[in-house]
Amino acid sequence: MISEIKVFAPASVANVSCGFDVLGFCLDPIGDLIHVKMIEKPGVHIGNIKGYKVPKNPLKNVASVAVSALLKSHPTKNGFIINIEKKIKPGSGIGSSAASSAGAVFAVNELLGRPFKSDKLLDFAMFGEALASGEYHADNLAPVIFGGFTLVRSINPIDIVSLPYPPELIVTIIHPKIELKTIHSRAILKDDIPLKKAIKQWGNLGALISALHTNNYNLLSRSLQDELIEPARSILIPKFEEVKNEALNQGALGSGISGSGPSIFALSKGMATAKKAGNAMAEIYKSIGLEYDMYLSPINKVGIKILK
Ligand code: HSE
Repeated sequence: MISEIKVFAPASVANVSCGFDVLGFCLDPIGDLIHVKMIEKPGVHIGNIKGYKVPKNPLKNVASVAVSALLKSHPTKNGFIINIEKKIKPGSGIGSSAASSAGAVFAVNELLGRPFKSDKLLDFAMFGEALASGEYHADNLAPVIFGGFTLVRSINPIDIVSLPYPPELIVTIIHPKIELKTIHSRAILKDDIPLKKAIKQWGNLGALISALHTNNYNLLSRSLQDELIEPARSILIPKFEEVKNEALNQGALGSGISGSGPSIFALSKGMATAKKAGNAMAEIYKSIGLEYDMYLSPINKVGIKILK
């Protein structure tokens, strides 16, 4: 039996405009590196943390909380040391907590000889998400664990639908360097939604799913609208409307808040448009002297990857 493993757990974009808490896809160029060692003494420990700061206390770290949930269902005399190279900034809106939670449960499951299937791993990883955001949701976790573009039909019981997507779809992410905690950007949302807005939202969601199946870029573009969440959250993101409009002006199919923000995503047909959109989006932040990171990525088909 192997006693240590290192995995790459990718960043992800949740919501995708019209699919709050249900849609997501994962990215290629950025992710956390999670290195787990199995030891003889029971217990879950956080070992080294490199990169962005996250708690060392195993009760406060999303990775160890998720692993502890797994071990409740699979008691073992072994313990685990989780080392994290935190490359996704917490509070950036590209699935930082999901990557660490999913990466850690995936790694421990491998070390234990794979007692659990992906659905169950998602269940455990959601404990990490709940710690970070105050609520159970799986829209970042599902693409990280299953790869590609996913729809969460239900979290109880877990029911994940893997979606196809057009081959030339490229994602642009721009992350203005401010931190927005998911727990806060969820707190500003209302529990009730007006029926008229809900009708528009599920019209767009249904159409987006169809567009993904039929490679219909036009329909995809028309469907990337968010009636419910973006209007409430966009005020938390500097220059959101301008950045989004720049992406659309450059020919992006659609643009919106990535997860709970502050990152903004755009989807484009082809790398050339995605780059143009990114450069134009970046100009807005340059003009106000706000630092940003930018990523260009195809949709990552595989999700979590074992490195050694
Ligand atoms: N669906 C979640 C939200 C994603 O928007 O709050 C963030 O983790």
